[in-house]
Amino acid sequence: MTVADPHSTSSASPDTAATPSLSRRTFLRSASVGAAAVTFGAGGAFAQAPSKQLNIAIVGCGEQGLAQINAMRELVLNGSVRVLAMADPWQFNLDYRANSFEKLVKGAKVNRYTDLSELLAKEESLDAVFIATPDYLHEPYTTMALKAGKHVYCEKMMSNTVEAARKMVISQQETGKLCQVGHQRRSNPRYLRLRDEIIGKADGTAKNLTGKSLLGEITHAYAQWNREVKPPLGFPKKFPVPPEVLTTLGYENMEQFRNWRFYKKFGGGAISDLGAHQIDLFNWMLGGTPVSITATGGRDYYDGKGMMPDGQSVRPAYETDDNVIVTYEYNVNGRTVRCIYTVLTTTSSQAIYEKFMGDQASVVISEDLKNNQVYRENNALWDGQQLVEAGTLAAIPGSVHHKFWESPKPWWQEDKWLTKVGVKAGAVDARESKATGAYELPEVLNKLPHTPHIENFVKCCLEGKSQTDLNCPVADAYKTCVTVLKCNQAIAEKKTLIFDPSEFAV
Ligand SMILES: NC(=O)c1ccc[n+]([C@@H]2O[C@H](COP(=O)([O-])OP(=O)(O)OC[C@H]3O[C@@H](n4cnc5c(N)ncnc54)[C@H](O)[C@@H]3O)[C@@H](O)[C@H]2O)c1
Repeated sequence: MTVADPHSTSSASPDTAATPSLSRRTFLRSASVGAAAVTFGAGGAFAQAPSKQLNIAIVGCGEQGLAQINAMRELVLNGSVRVLAMADPWQFNLDYRANSFEKLVKGAKVNRYTDLSELLAKEESLDAVFIATPDYLHEPYTTMALKAGKHVYCEKMMSNTVEAARKMVISQQETGKLCQVGHQRRSNPRYLRLRDEIIGKADGTAKNLTGKSLLGEITHAYAQWNREVKPPLGFPKKFPVPPEVLTTLGYENMEQFRNWRFYKKFGGGAISDLGAHQIDLFNWMLGGTPVSITATGGRDYYDGKGMMPDGQSVRPAYETDDNVIVTYEYNVNGRTVRCIYTVLTTTSSQAIYEKFMGDQASVVISEDLKNNQVYRENNALWDGQQLVEAGTLAAIPGSVHHKFWESPKPWWQEDKWLTKVGVKAGAVDARESKATGAYELPEVLNKLPHTPHIENFVKCCLEGKSQTDLNCPVADAYKTCVTVLKCNQAIAEKKTLIFDPSEFAV
């Protein structure tokens, strides 16, 4: 069977659209910008380079450990963050990450551990721990670090079980240390603009000229993550994790260790791995939690029987569902909003985006800037030009024909023949709505997707802020974890389930 090797492009983080690697060139290019030029964007910005330094450790040196290092490079270069140590039981990954970091950052010396408890015992000046391990380790490691008096930035998904996620919230409450979860869209200025100015708050108010949601009454949301078929992750045969270490960590073999996200004991599969980000948006944008869920899905492709697209390798046999289609119902201001989410792992068609729809406009967004449109319904009560002048929206440069979902049709022009028979332009087919007016969100994120979220966490740690100053405090992430993991129960029971509001409380 063909497998992807670590540290090759094919093994890139599966849930980050495009994470540039920390090449010497890109890192040094940022270095040459220098500390003085560093400005931190919206969603957690430092007004100026801080005088204090946060001593951190990174636990889990895989793809997301790398993404975190890349995302914090400006903070490292301007001295706000110092990476003291890294931990990973896989010596190969540990050395790879630590060596690259030491080569790139002048004077850096990273202490290396294969065990977090040893790291915590020895690194006395440590302030915070960044956790990028497989999901099932998030709770024990978060709790261990919080109880050792460290702040924690833990990757999403919080955990593969609701019980463990609940323990994380309790550990934070008991220790009073800061704990942020890595739903990074919550710190992205584009998504903040969407929430604050376009969609507005759950009460219908928004920080724009009209003071109201530009979407009017929000009725639906849709999000999807379509990913191509991928071979299982491999490993360099000369550098496996020793069998006794694998056993201690609960893995049967290296294949499980590398492809942990598809085994129920270690991860939550596609709906949790990819869906976590986008389902989190439903809760965050709508300012609440769902009242019901209906879901279908299954492990239909990665069944260990059929062939991979190369026609030569047998598909791996995973445990988690490889496709899930779910509908959540929310109650927003007394009215039902339905949110549909699909995650498919057998096609990359139309890829990744989120869409919020109302009776006056719809908006399409993703971490990738190509999805960035606001489509105004023709009957909308707001004036697009006015909002462009106010800087809330941007006029779309040129044609929008490439936007498959809302493109104006060529037969919309004045048509002599149709005019003679009494059909007005734009009403050629009475069953189809007129094309909507297209605008863009004017915000651009000129940083890596995780950077503003990490900046928000670092700022809160350095400035002694509280849990409510974090953009994704662990208690909010818990609500998302409950929302996402309920899919599994809904699929298994094949019926609509009603959420009890107490499920979201700790
Ligand atoms: N926020 C995002 O956009 C994003 C993107 C990708 C992954 N993630 C999350 O990051 C986490 C890691 O994912 P990944 O893609 O880097 O996985 P990965 O398999 O590439 O890396 C996991 C790393 O953890 C190490 N590890 C395993 N057991 C460990 C232990 N006991 N202690 C310390 N390290 C251990 C592995 O050796 C490996 O180096 C997951 O929770 C994932 O959901 C988040």
